[in-house]
Amino acid sequence: MADLAAPAQTETTPRTLDSDAVRADFPILATTNRFGKPLVYLDSAATSLKPLAVIEAVDAYNREYTSNIHRGIYELAERATTAYEGARASTARLIHAREPGEIVFVRNATEAINLVAHSWGRHHIGRGDSIVLTEMEHHANLVPWQLLVQEKDGDLEFIPVSDDGLLQLEVFEALLHLHPKLVAFTHVSNMLGTINPVREMTEMAHAAGALVLIDGAQAVPHLPVDVQAIDADFYVFSGHKMLGPTGSGALWARRELLEAMPPFMAGGDMIREVHLRRSEWNDVPWKFEAGTPDIAAQIGMGAAAEYLMATGMDAVQAHERGLTRYAMEVLVREVPGIELYGPSADQRSGVVSFNLPGIHPHDVAQILDRSGICVRAGHHCTMPLHERFDLAATARASFNVYTIPEEIDALAVGLREVARVFDS
Ligand code: ALA
Repeated sequence: MADLAAPAQTETTPRTLDSDAVRADFPILATTNRFGKPLVYLDSAATSLKPLAVIEAVDAYNREYTSNIHRGIYELAERATTAYEGARASTARLIHAREPGEIVFVRNATEAINLVAHSWGRHHIGRGDSIVLTEMEHHANLVPWQLLVQEKDGDLEFIPVSDDGLLQLEVFEALLHLHPKLVAFTHVSNMLGTINPVREMTEMAHAAGALVLIDGAQAVPHLPVDVQAIDADFYVFSGHKMLGPTGSGALWARRELLEAMPPFMAGGDMIREVHLRRSEWNDVPWKFEAGTPDIAAQIGMGAAAEYLMATGMDAVQAHERGLTRYAMEVLVREVPGIELYGPSADQRSGVVSFNLPGIHPHDVAQILDRSGICVRAGHHCTMPLHERFDLAATARASFNVYTIPEEIDALAVGLREVARVFDS
């Protein structure tokens, strides 16, 4: 007999996650801390846990076919090159890039932004030119632009954040009258969780003649991303937040931009010909990949992309949205006095930053640690955003595909314990 409570999945029904099966893919979730408590990992915005598929892909490279890429003509080297370029193709598919050649492998989103600032920025930003950013940027999408405008005598302008954690687009519209050369903004805020209207903002920026760079570090792991539909010019993300290894990441850019840009780092593999006094560059994307890259990490990132696609990004987003809604309700109901920052659950990704009145977030995190609960405490590399809300620091719980509601319940219990410790 059909189960009336569980409608059959159709093409229009989003896939749902089988949390038990997903959690079994992450061996670290079976571990305990030094007090014998099971791991409650709520710090996925800092870095995600890694599934077996990623661990095994890295291990296989190290055990079975270690060799350099693009150089050897023996079997191992061919396997390594095929796996590395296969990872590029998987990464391209995950974000719906037109072709793998538009994906440049880098160590992380930070390196990708520095690449664009040095290669594109130093050739296109001059005296008096402005770059528009937002008040909610991670330092990675702020400091490289500060250095650039200091060197070039340009200007930075900022889209302000409203009290409820949203970008003030009417101010953005006004800033576009300055005819900025570049608009750079985060897709998802790592502190407020806000999902920004990237398609609309890109359209507005293009209409004013600016190029667009989007920091997708907190978006690619959590929601479907289609760089062609967004139509930005540069889109950057890290592998280690999307279930991949540390030391992996990607810059996506339109091919014609990459072709017009000069190299960032120089050395082996990024050249076609080298003479004593001049050289010619390799084709895109290898022109931007000087030296031996972190081959194992990028192969792992490719495995992570495949894992996410097999899970289904719609399902990942629906799962995390449900968790976020649940967390915001439970924390407000169960933890007296808690202050949450950012927009409503339907406007954010799986990030909840909070404070307990009169208790420093570092103390909160330290006491939670005794219960095996991992949260981040501090400014989360967003000092200007904390200043905007007149906050020295916050504690932050952040979710991923393996997070379950029971872990949010554990957080609520842990926070009541923190309050009790400080009351006594
Ligand atoms: N950017 C990372 C975070 O938000 C490290 O925690």
